[in-house]
Amino acid sequence: MSLLDVIFNLKAGKYTEDISGKMPAHIGIIPDGNGRWASRRGLPRSMGHRAGSNTLKRIVTYCDRIGLKYLTVYVFSTENWDRPQEEINTLMKLLEGYLQNAEKELAGTNVRIRIIGDLEGLSPELRKQIPRVEELTKNNSGLNLFFALNYGGRSEILHAVREIADDAAASKINPKDITKEIFEKYLYTKDVPDPDLIIRTSGEMRTSNFLIWQSVYSEYLFLNTRWPDFTERDMAEAIRGYAKRNRRYGGI
Ligand code: IPE
Ligand code: IPE
Ligand code: MG
Repeated sequence: MSLLDVIFNLKAGKYTEDISGKMPAHIGIIPDGNGRWASRRGLPRSMGHRAGSNTLKRIVTYCDRIGLKYLTVYVFSTENWDRPQEEINTLMKLLEGYLQNAEKELAGTNVRIRIIGDLEGLSPELRKQIPRVEELTKNNSGLNLFFALNYGGRSEILHAVREIADDAAASKINPKDITKEIFEKYLYTKDVPDPDLIIRTSGEMRTSNFLIWQSVYSEYLFLNTRWPDFTERDMAEAIRGYAKRNRRYGGI
């Protein structure tokens, strides 16, 4: 099934405009609002994260099914360490569980998983599961799913700067030759196209340090919906809305 079919089928014929050729290649998601979703229901925040992780599984399956090529999901920021330890544990355990059960979670999909971010600060279990799942899925040719984990745009850029400085000190590169293209080879997202569309749920209108280098010309969509309530239909609507936008990149 093509993206167009999916969008078209959603409202049984209501969408007739041709949006083929305007599909995003890469969508970024800032899945915000788990905590507020839970608080509203008188539940502990951990229940919001649990619900949010189920939403994520649905959306990943959906994106693979409709033929999206790249999806990057912000699962834990470099600033999220400022949360209570118990909440951090909940988030890490959910991710560990997902990766441990990757065979089952990804059954019937063609998803390739990779992690971007600083892996050094992560639990031994995550550091074991990450290479395992990356290896397990490396030949999958469907959705390229990136989890931004212990990720921050500023630390990614600093990491790249340090590596370039090392290469310059070792005379592997001449500082005069550093172009935008070369710089991008040092980012976690090397070989990944810039995000076309970034969706943030829960009404906050900020990047919170997500893909700051890569998103200079991304289209943003801010939704009031809290992440656990985000549906496949919201995703299809987001893609349809994106297809109607006029991207100018500074031109006319
Ligand atoms: C997003 O939901 C999940 C992560 C940060 C991992 P929040 O936990 O930020 O939920 P709110 O923003 O407090 O409602
Ligand atoms: C952004 O959400 C990070 C993730 C969704 C992982 P936050 O909830 O951490 O962002 P702020 O603190 O509201 O900016
Ligand atoms: Mg939040």
